[in-house]
Parts: sequence; C-alpha cells; structure tokens
Amino acid sequence: METPLLLFTVAAATSAYLLWFYLLSRRLTGPKVWPLVGSLPLLFINRRRIHDWMAANLRATGGAATYQTCTICIPFLARKQGFYTVTCHPRNIEHILRTRFDNYPKGPDYQAAFHDLLGQGIFNSDGETWLIQRKTAALEFTTRTLRQAMARWVNRTIKNRLWLILEKAATENTSVDLQDLLLRLTFDNICGLTFGKDPETLSPDLPENPFAKAFDSATEATLQRLLYPGFLWRLQKFLSIGAELRLENSLNIVENYMTEALNARKEAPSDDLLSRFMKRRDTDGNNFPDAVLKRIALNFVLAGRDTSSVALSWFFYSVMNDKHVEEKIIAEITTVLKETRGEDPRAWVDDPLVFDEADRLVYLKAALAETLRLYPSVPEDFKYVVSDDVLPDGTHVPAGSTVTYSIYSVGRMKSIWGEDCMEFKPERWLSEDGDRFETPKDGYKFVAFNAGPRTCLGKDLAYLQMKSVASAVLLRYRLAPVPGHRVEQKMSLTLFMNNGLRVYLHPRVL
Ligand code: HEM
Repeated sequence: METPLLLFTVAAATSAYLLWFYLLSRRLTGPKVWPLVGSLPLLFINRRRIHDWMAANLRATGGAATYQTCTICIPFLARKQGFYTVTCHPRNIEHILRTRFDNYPKGPDYQAAFHDLLGQGIFNSDGETWLIQRKTAALEFTTRTLRQAMARWVNRTIKNRLWLILEKAATENTSVDLQDLLLRLTFDNICGLTFGKDPETLSPDLPENPFAKAFDSATEATLQRLLYPGFLWRLQKFLSIGAELRLENSLNIVENYMTEALNARKEAPSDDLLSRFMKRRDTDGNNFPDAVLKRIALNFVLAGRDTSSVALSWFFYSVMNDKHVEEKIIAEITTVLKETRGEDPRAWVDDPLVFDEADRLVYLKAALAETLRLYPSVPEDFKYVVSDDVLPDGTHVPAGSTVTYSIYSVGRMKSIWGEDCMEFKPERWLSEDGDRFETPKDGYKFVAFNAGPRTCLGKDLAYLQMKSVASAVLLRYRLAPVPGHRVEQKMSLTLFMNNGLRVYLHPRVL
C-alpha cells in the first residue's frame, strides 16, 4: 500500500475507534476508562483495596448503587467479556438471585474454570444438574442428625486439640495466628462432616497435611484460571506447564484421598454426607457412580471450608477491639451456662457447648451476623447474563456480560444500613426487647449467605459451629493484639486476613 493511503487508513481507523470509544465511555457509569484497557489501570492501582474501591465507586453513583465498566475496550468484546455491571442495590440483587434466577447462572467461564476440581457438583453447576443435587442436599441439611454430627465434630476438635494449643500458648505467653488455627479447625470439621474422616490438620505441632495442601493448591490454581483469558490456561493445560501442571498434580493427590475416603465409607457407612448420598438415587433411579460421589463431596468441602473460619477471624478481631460487645457476649454465655450447668464456673469451661446451649445465644448470633455484614466471607459474587435484561433500577445489562453483586458493599452503604453502617453494632440484629435475633425484613440487604434458590445450605451449621468455637475461646481467654501486627484484607474471592490474626491469650477470670 502507498504511504499516504496507509496513513489515511490508519488515521480513519483510529478516528472511528476513538468515536466508538467515546460513545461507549459515555454510557459507562463507573471509574474512568481508557482506550483499549478500559478501567484495568485503576483496578490494578487499587488491587490491594479492591473491595473498598468498589464500595467507593458504588457510593459515588449517589443513590443508584450500580455502575457499569469495561476492561476490554475493543469492539465486539466490550459489550460481553469485558463488560461488568457492579451493583449492591438490594432490588437488583433480588432480581438477579431470585426473580430472574434462570437468566443469571454461574455461566460457562466459571464452570469451565472449576470443572477439573468440582466437576458438575452443586457449587459448579446450573440448570437441571444443579437442581437435582440441590433437592437431594436440601433434604439432608434439614435433618437433626446432620446438626448433631456437626456438633460432635466441632466439640471433639475443640476439646481434644484447640484447647490444648491455646492453653500452651497462654502458659508460655507466646502469640498464635488465630486465623491459621481456625482454618485448620474448619477444614477438619468439614472433612469429618462430609466424608467422616478428620485429617487432624489442627494438631499441636501444626502438621502439613498432603490432602489439605493439595486441595489448597488446586483451589488456588483454579481461581487463577478466572483471572486470565480462557485460552491462556487451556494452552498451559495442553502443554502441561505452570499452574496447570501444579493443578494436575494436586488433583491426583485429591483424587486418591477421595477414593480412599469413599472406600472406607462403603465398608463402614456413617452419618456423614457422603454416606447419605451413597444411599440416594439419581433421577433414573440408579445409585450415584463413584466419580460423581467424589465430586459431590469435594463441592461440600469447598463450600464449607474457609467461609466460617474467615468469619470467625473477623469476629474475634472485632470483639477484641470492642470491650462493650465482649462483655455482653460473656454475660450472655455465663447466664445460659448457670442455668444448664450450675453456679460453679469450672463446669462452664469443662466441655464445649451442647447444641441446646448454643441455640440460646442470641446476642452472640447477632455479633456473628454483624461481623458477616461488615466482613462477608465471600465479598463479591458474579453471575453470567444469558439474555439482555433491565435491572429494577433501570440499568441495561447485555447478554454475555458479567454482573457482580458486591456483598461487601451492601453492608457498608448508608442508604441501606443507615448513618451508623460502619459501626460494629450487634444490637441492630435484635428485637426491641433484645430477646430475639431478627433478620432484616428486606432479605436482600444481608446476602452474606447468598439468597434466593441458591442460598447457602450450611448457614445453620455454620452458626452452630461459629457459636461453639467463639464461646470455647472467649470463655477461657481474653484476646490481645500482638503489637505491630497489621490486620488487613487479602484480595481473593474469600475475605482472608493477609498476615493472619496474631494474638496473645490471657486466661479469663469468670
Ligand atoms: C460463615 C459461613 C458461611 C458463609 C458466609 C457461606 C456463604 C455462602 C455463599 C455466599 C454461597 C453462594 C456461593 C455462590 O453460589 O457463589 C454459599 C453456598 C453454599 N454453601 Fe455456604 N457459607 C458458609 C458456610 C457453609 C457451610 C459450613 C457449608 C456446609 C456444611 C456450606 C454449604 C454451602 C453449599 C452446599 C452451597 C451451594 C448452594 C447452591 O449452590 O445451591 N456453607 N455459601
């Protein structure tokens, strides 16, 4: 091509692109966007405070609490792969999670990324495949025997291992990373509950467990897939290199462990979820094949492992910094225990709470809910848009794009929770006489456990577990922060603390 013609073509194409970009950016309501890379530079700059950044963007919209942005400003891609609608508007969330549930599945990218680890399990499926498992699982999660099983696994771990570790640290006046201990504890519990085998990762010498390590690394490699364009991880997988090689190796370890667990349950069924699913039949009246059973179990492990430990870490952090709330929690537990175990304080700390004692702790439940409002274990969640739609606040969402609902931001908006939304106030969850725990009338202003047909199945079990652990720690010890230790959020799909939660433990005099 002649040089003038070439220059003219380039100039014409650039002008057409800039005009297209101008029209696109005029319709976007979120942070500033640049040609080609859209809002990616700001996303990168704010990567260490991504949740607060998103909340600030949402506040900046005024009352709307919804914005739209683009990370790939290239024609044809900009309205699909690179297009994000971010919202924390309760009516929009209700629309996505309940009213037009079928239009907002997890979607093909999410499913493809998680497929190797979770198969078509409940956490990673949509439509009929999801519905069948949901119905079967929902039946099990309402049984009293499952709650008893959870209470048994939790209390055993507290009594035989957690208390030993904490007592040693208190006696020797050394600090512990409470987050690490809690992660180990809930991993052990969920494995016990799911397939009847406690890997005892919470033990005095804090051992490295091959299954836990492989499961962690498989989850991490899977999450990495979501960060990059799909063809990149598919190429890595084809070549068996990098994160994909690590994933392959970890999955082999996980697979072998699950095969052993399944065989053990076949020989000696128990009250765990795997044994329960082994007895059930699929829609054709057949037993679930072994491969499916293993995936089902892994889905429960993923769903119930880090969520409660992360919530507990933020709970202890919040309570440690609020003496008034701490005193009220202790007062409530001791009042209940006086009635159930008598006046001698030694009897209160001899054994962890039984189910009926835990059930009576409404202020503690309120403090846990308040923690989840400010620090939801899953801070942001995503859905795929099947066909063009309009959200209740008038926002148009194009088919093929992603809607993010920011659970973190919902709890931090004055328009939703009032002027004192940033304060830690368990009282807001109590009835007027203070005797009952009350969920908000608008169920979509608290979505830490999700809402609609895909509401968390483990919510009641999680509260039971968290109450037991919270009382077991607080009744015996006062927690004190380690000077200089910085508590900050880790930027991942679960709201971990970046450097853990290092605390000293001082025996509590009751
Ligand atoms: C504080 C603790 C917990 C929190 C904050 C929590 C939160 C959530 C959230 C936000 C979801 C929706 C995830 C999504 O679809 O993207 C979910 C789903 C789920 N959770 Fe939980 N969870 C907790 C504990 C548990 C426990 C202990 C279990 C199991 C024993 C569990 C079992 C499940 C299951 C099976 C689902 C999938 C439901 C479905 O897709 O139909 N969760 N949870």
